[in-house]
Amino acid sequence: MSSSGKVSPPNVRFIRLMCTGRLDPEFVMKGFQSGADGVVILGCHPGDCHYKEGNYNTLRRVYLLRRMLSQFGIEEKRVRLEWISACEAEKFVDTLHDMVRTVKELGPLGKGVTGDFGR
Ligand code: FES
Repeated sequence: MSSSGKVSPPNVRFIRLMCTGRLDPEFVMKGFQSGADGVVILGCHPGDCHYKEGNYNTLRRVYLLRRMLSQFGIEEKRVRLEWISACEAEKFVDTLHDMVRTVKELGPLGKGVTGDFGR
């Protein structure tokens, strides 16, 4: 809940990592395989990563991941990366609501993309 009383959407599930740099692209793919219609990755602002460059590595990784997912018919908008600090509760909640709106506009992920992603 943010200081303004806003709460996260109820249909969001969280996976906590020490740093976005620990994000294995497979986590995102497993999310989609498990029925998620979108994935939001929230990390520290550039320059604020406790592990120095974790978020920069994630930025590059997410760019490539989106391109790869689009090859499987998954719209790039279904994966979103945002920089949010621990004191930006309102931005956190607003980002989640905005992502839920985006995913609702896109509609549910088609059944045809829940395969094994080429494994
Ligand atoms: S600690 Fe690395 S992105 Fe937050």
